[in-house]
Amino acid sequence: MKKIILTGDRPTGKLHVGHYAGSLKQRVELQNSGEFEDIYIMIADAQALTDNFDNPEKVRSNISEVALDYMSCGLDPQKSNLFIQSYVSELTELTFYYMNLVTLSRLKRNPTVKAEIGLRGFNTSIPVGFFTYPISQTADITAFKATTVPVGDDQLPMIEQAREIVRSFNSTYDEVLVEPQALLPGNEACLRLPGIDGTAKMSKSLGNCIYLSDHPDDIRKKVMSMYTDPGHIRVDDPGKLEGNTVFTYLDAFCRDEHFERHLPEYANLEELKGHYTRGGLGDVKVKKFLYAVLMEELEPIQAKRHELEKDVPAVMEILHQGGIRARETAAKTLAEVKHAMKIDYFE
Ligand code: TRP
Repeated sequence: MKKIILTGDRPTGKLHVGHYAGSLKQRVELQNSGEFEDIYIMIADAQALTDNFDNPEKVRSNISEVALDYMSCGLDPQKSNLFIQSYVSELTELTFYYMNLVTLSRLKRNPTVKAEIGLRGFNTSIPVGFFTYPISQTADITAFKATTVPVGDDQLPMIEQAREIVRSFNSTYDEVLVEPQALLPGNEACLRLPGIDGTAKMSKSLGNCIYLSDHPDDIRKKVMSMYTDPGHIRVDDPGKLEGNTVFTYLDAFCRDEHFERHLPEYANLEELKGHYTRGGLGDVKVKKFLYAVLMEELEPIQAKRHELEKDVPAVMEILHQGGIRARETAAKTLAEVKHAMKIDYFE
């Protein structure tokens, strides 16, 4: 079977290093692996509107930001279809048909939806559109017959729900849809990069993000303010690694060759960790090293972004062309779906 990727992000802000470590970096590697027949990377504006319906300007203005982040990280429109979700109206139509295959109680049990409802304080007044977004996400994935969905682990319940809908559709109507598989980043630390304040997840609303496009001075300030081990007061004190954000980031980003270039007294991260836990290694030194490591990764990305920012209309045109191609594929799947459901009256 053809291997096809679909994944995407909500355009509610610029992308941060959590997005990068948790998914974006891997997407670029997958894109360049040549293993995939088709790659679709979607800016999920319709999904963003499910909890930002009253702030369309925010969603609109972040479309180009996310596209710039994508392309500056190495997503290449020659190899990957970059498109905007709402442009492909077939997705909305598929969502409506899939709604029959999901029960209310199943949606209520979706852990991601549950957590997000709490986070957004919806409590009892949950917008139906928001509540049903896992169904629309199933449409996103299945419209392209995606086999592989590279995501962070917070999205696993979405993929599970998509698989259930696919099985239900195929057994009720006909074998049209493909069961997708989630693909998580291999590195533990990348899976869930904490915010700079040490809280579980980098999130815009918590103000604890390092954005890919942050000015290096701001990145330095953010790194220097990062949460470490509150018990590590004097340099000589033994330090703890667990819950120590700086070391989690190093786990995610640092390689042996970074030591040669930026901290040659140590051969690798194990040695640095050993010194830290024994005592005698100050936070500032580790933070300066992390800053150097991060900037080595981000500098080429930022340079590319500055280039791309000179012609934003060209970036939007890439999304337009990607959308046209995405629509062709989605329209084919929709026709098969309607045929299987016996609602293809005039074909
Ligand atoms: N839910 C994803 C997020 O919050 C965005 C998304 C929408 C997505 N549709 C998708 C991801 C389909 C993977 C597959 O970032």
